[in-house]
Amino acid sequence: MHSSKTKFFNSQVEEEWAAVDYSDEKIVRIDRMLRLAQVRMGMKILEPGCGTGRLTRILADRVGTGGHIVAIDISEKMVEACLRKANWKAHVEVVCASVEEYPLPPREFDAVICHQVFPHFNDKLTALNVFSTILKPYGRLAIFHFINSAQINDLHRIAHEAVMEDLMPAEDAMTSMLDSVGFQIDIFEDDENGYLLISHLVH
Ligand SMILES: C[S@@+](CC[C@H](N)C(=O)[O-])C[C@H]1O[C@@H](n2cnc3c(N)ncnc32)[C@H](O)[C@@H]1O
Repeated sequence: MHSSKTKFFNSQVEEEWAAVDYSDEKIVRIDRMLRLAQVRMGMKILEPGCGTGRLTRILADRVGTGGHIVAIDISEKMVEACLRKANWKAHVEVVCASVEEYPLPPREFDAVICHQVFPHFNDKLTALNVFSTILKPYGRLAIFHFINSAQINDLHRIAHEAVMEDLMPAEDAMTSMLDSVGFQIDIFEDDENGYLLISHLVH
């Protein structure tokens, strides 16, 4: 049985926002985010909401074959598209599941990269708790969007009823949720250049 959100994202798989590779300008911004999140060769990374795999492919190159990527998405159409882009890489695992529910090994990941997905988690605190459990001590969590929170929320309110309540929490709510599951914020930007939150587990 599909949730309305899964159906919505299945219907989006060929839309430009999901399918077209990043422009050079967006690649520069992704590079900066990955540098600030300290993504390096050999790392094990969780990518919730991988979509068609545009970022998955970049992450796979960054960590190299000595690293490992687990890319998860609730939409089977997105997962199929992601597999087409990344299945030739043995160190990339693509899973169709909700990140809040999928069993992952504790304390094994170096970083979690949430690109344009955080507002879509039905239970944001549960998702953060999962990230806190699966990250190694001092592991990093990045939450990154090309647009800022006001633009994200305006977009989702009018995009479709399946995502109209998928909003980015205000900064104080984010800080308190992150703090409650053991994260400390290192970088918070929410401005004309988009949304970037980098945090690390304090223990
Ligand atoms: C806006 S898209 C972003 C896709 C990709 N990260 C990108 O930037 O192109 C959000 C994706 O998150 C997925 N998604 C939503 N909720 C999810 C959840 N709880 N667990 C895993 N994936 C989820 C959707 O199916 C969709 O593919």
